[in-house]
Amino acid sequence: TSEQSLVGRHALVTAGPTVEPLDPVRFISNHSSGKQGYAIAEALAALGARVTLVSGPVSIPAPRGVTCVKVQTAEEMLAACEQALPADIAVCTAAVSDWRASVPAGRKIKKTGDGPPALNLVENPDILATLCHHARRPRLVVGFAAETDDVRENALAKRQRKGCDWLVANDVRRGVFGADRNLVSLIDGSGIETWPEMDKSAVAGKLAERIAETFRSSTA
Ligand code: C5P
Repeated sequence: TSEQSLVGRHALVTAGPTVEPLDPVRFISNHSSGKQGYAIAEALAALGARVTLVSGPVSIPAPRGVTCVKVQTAEEMLAACEQALPADIAVCTAAVSDWRASVPAGRKIKKTGDGPPALNLVENPDILATLCHHARRPRLVVGFAAETDDVRENALAKRQRKGCDWLVANDVRRGVFGADRNLVSLIDGSGIETWPEMDKSAVAGKLAERIAETFRSSTA
């Protein structure tokens, strides 16, 4: 039945922020609430998928029936994702910190009176791009992109750059972090489709249904 159309499929979902330590008490992170990713994990599970949710620190509970792996850093998130493979589907909603301290200080960084310390940052791995180019690449990889300007152009370019099958562009001009509603466009190989503004749970349901359709209409 269409209700259970993802039975036998394994879906990997990333969600929430990552937290990158600077020293034992300080970190770099962002305002991601995890709401959209958690809703997608729940919606995929509701269609019968086995779901592994790899999540940074958030304040919401893991959906019932979903295996939740909690991580802190981008490197831990990537390792947990690779550990979860093989998967048929990957949906990367996590707001991964672009940078981390090259070497987190072992002790609390002190004020010296000589001005602020220099932060030596290095780039984090791109989890979405890594999954897209992985030897065990999931058949369907979906990325997210928070855009404030030129949503369409940026999203089309980002889909190409990352190598994902679908890209969901969030229009974040009116602030989406922590909100319950979302305005998104779905970009696939054949074009862009803008959905009306709706609850994040409705976005999740519609996306999960689209994913199920894709797997229904293919033979494997
Ligand atoms: O490049 P940008 O951060 O805008 O791309 C957003 C998409 O890439 C999201 O799907 C996000 O989860 C993913 N991403 C990732 N690892 C990163 C940066 C972004 O998986 N280091």
